[in-house]
Amino acid sequence: MNKLCGFVLGLLLIFVASAGVADRYAQVTEDGYGAVATVHPLATDAAMEAYREGGNAVDALVAAAYALGVVDSNNSGIGGGAFIVIRWANGDVEAIDGRETAPAAATRNMFVRDGKAVSDLSRNGPLAVGVPGSVMALEYVHQKGGKTEFADVLQPGILLADKGFIVEPLLARRVALTAHQLLRYEGRHLLFDEQRKPINAGDVLIQKELAAVYRALAENGADYFYKGGFAEQVAEWMQANGGIITKQDFSNYSLKLREPVRTRFGDYELVGFPPPSSGGVHVAQILSVLADVQWAELPLSERYHVLSEAMQIAFADRAHWLGDPDFAKVPKGLVHPKYLASLVERVNAEKASDDIIYGSPFDYSDGLFSRHTTHIATADKDGNWVAMTTTLNTAFGSKVVVPGTGVFLNNQMDDFSAQPGVPNTYGLVGAEANAVAPGKRPLSSMSPTLVLRQGKPVMTVGAAGGPTIITQVVQAVANHLLLDKPLPEALAIPRVHHQWRPEILYVEPTMPKAVTKGLREKGHGVKALGAYGATQAISIDEDGEFVAVSEPRLKQRNR
Ligand code: DON
Repeated sequence: MNKLCGFVLGLLLIFVASAGVADRYAQVTEDGYGAVATVHPLATDAAMEAYREGGNAVDALVAAAYALGVVDSNNSGIGGGAFIVIRWANGDVEAIDGRETAPAAATRNMFVRDGKAVSDLSRNGPLAVGVPGSVMALEYVHQKGGKTEFADVLQPGILLADKGFIVEPLLARRVALTAHQLLRYEGRHLLFDEQRKPINAGDVLIQKELAAVYRALAENGADYFYKGGFAEQVAEWMQANGGIITKQDFSNYSLKLREPVRTRFGDYELVGFPPPSSGGVHVAQILSVLADVQWAELPLSERYHVLSEAMQIAFADRAHWLGDPDFAKVPKGLVHPKYLASLVERVNAEKASDDIIYGSPFDYSDGLFSRHTTHIATADKDGNWVAMTTTLNTAFGSKVVVPGTGVFLNNQMDDFSAQPGVPNTYGLVGAEANAVAPGKRPLSSMSPTLVLRQGKPVMTVGAAGGPTIITQVVQAVANHLLLDKPLPEALAIPRVHHQWRPEILYVEPTMPKAVTKGLREKGHGVKALGAYGATQAISIDEDGEFVAVSEPRLKQRNR
């Protein structure tokens, strides 16, 4: 599994990248009012237009998300799901769960044939699709706190779909890399010509059907998607093509408003996403260990050693305890201050641990959590700070585009554990807590995160990249707030990733050789993994001005 998973993980990490000129990805308005960071300059432009039109961070978010669905359709779009953590101007914080749900006809063993999980079924085609939630999540935040008309913030996305945009080398490469899967479904007409040749870099990609769907949304809101024409088209296609999603599944979809995971971390408060994301819990766990070991004081290779140990401790808990809290018993004790404080005792200071298993948080039977991706960060001077991570799962999701819609549907069903102990596309293993069940939400690593100090927001951050999302977010926060590095530098520092299984510490090639050597000497199974990740973040500088940064590694990948 290790080799294959490493390869797949590598591919996925390439897929989350995007392109172009540095500052067009992350911008602050001239008057300093609003900030945005995304993975695509055209989506960042859409957000800036929303600010220009009198919008706030919420309008900017919605404009960027819909634009990304057009120009970055392999990573995110209305066929997928989203988690949003938001700190409203009045100081309230909310965690909005727009994660996909398994359809009502889903069953525990729907991906198992002859006793074995068949990954093609959970990754490609109709059974891979969960009922999408992004449209409802975006409508909710916009209705609650947007300042401009919903139809107006959709305009940049509509224009990009209707008039087209120039395909960048990276998107063309992603299409070529997934061609054999994309060609299996009717969506091929969007990205391939009649001779089945893929779209090239420099071509203009026009998506008239997607533009029409966006217009219908602008006119009729989310009802068109969940109760109207869109749901009907999808349900009809599913029925004719071996899928199980029905119109009822769409009309039954509901948003979940969850309690954010709020934990202390030194002088700061972390506000993270609760289950069914594992992000909030494990970002909190890992950062808590770092705060307890006085991480900034350690020599460099020790720092990465402790980081790796903390990652393993967290991911072992993830594999055992985490799942959709509406279906599985996910203990709140996992983020109880006493449990967090106990984690540091499990770090082996001398050598890489090889015996880490999940822990036993306090109250694990009662205190329960009530029962290829992109990240957008926006913030405004009214005090709205937003972190939204949204995804189709892997590149182009299930590859299914229901004819007439132009919308790629997700393959989020692969984030369930098809069988306990059988790794998913990211090599992640899960237990019963994450088994498939009707109406259930698959476990996620998406970690939209806000950091507050004395009640005031100081950072919004999140990332793309499957399980590396958790470890990217940890490193962005730790480098910025524990090492006191300015945000651009904090995101550029070489990263490591450990997810407990496989027992490999992935290290970026830019890591100083002496550090890698030190880690090997401590017994880590070190493996190089290209420059990976796609973190977006916004912070404030000493003068209270926004600093917006989009993943520095992205710009190298679009050549
Ligand atoms: O929810 C999750 O954890 C995954 N579906 C995220 C997928 C992802 O980040 C893909 N990008 N490389």
